[in-house]
Amino acid sequence: MLRRSASLPEKKYFKRILFTELEVKRRMGEMAVEIARDYRGKEMVIVGILKGSFMFFSDLVKLLYIHDIHPYIDFMILSSYGSSTTSSGKVKLDRDITTPLEGKWVLLVDDILDTGRTLSFAKFHLSRFNPMGVKTCVFLDKPSRRVVKIKADYRCFEIEDLFVVGYGLDWNNLFRDLPYVAVIDEKNLPPTNL
Ligand code: XMP
Repeated sequence: MLRRSASLPEKKYFKRILFTELEVKRRMGEMAVEIARDYRGKEMVIVGILKGSFMFFSDLVKLLYIHDIHPYIDFMILSSYGSSTTSSGKVKLDRDITTPLEGKWVLLVDDILDTGRTLSFAKFHLSRFNPMGVKTCVFLDKPSRRVVKIKADYRCFEIEDLFVVGYGLDWNNLFRDLPYVAVIDEKNLPPTNL
């Protein structure tokens, strides 16, 4: 059920809502059509980068199911050293995939493409398992922040250089559960014990 934005108690921590639940759903539907068209008839493995992609990934897989696309599912856990609102540079593999990729078409899924370090690290890593191909899919793209040259093959929305939360994206592991995307208000952050 869609909640009206006026009744959201967490709203006090946000400057504004960037994409509503309905806008996310609509755009996801369009993107799923494109992906289903490109992967039809191919043996597909969809790999999510945790934790940020969990909601986007799950909604995407359900939409692909409607289009009769049934990929193998796997996840990798990556971490980058540094604080919660900046990416520091070094990416570390904390959990690898277990699905054999040889002869398969891979779709790598992440929440946001920012400097590009995480996605290029993951793409390079997966390409060493000899798949037929690796394409990338991100929920959000911040092209102005790019440090590593990489473009996503599929993306839902392009955004400016804003720190956003919701739909899997977090501030200190909070707000991942929101079905919409909001811009956090750095002057009024929530209390946290984390
Ligand atoms: P890179 O810089 O490697 O970053 O492309 C990808 C990772 O950085 C995090 N990130 C964000 N997380 N709101 C977030 O909650 C943001 O606006 C944001 N920008 C970057 C995120 O973990 C992503 O996977």
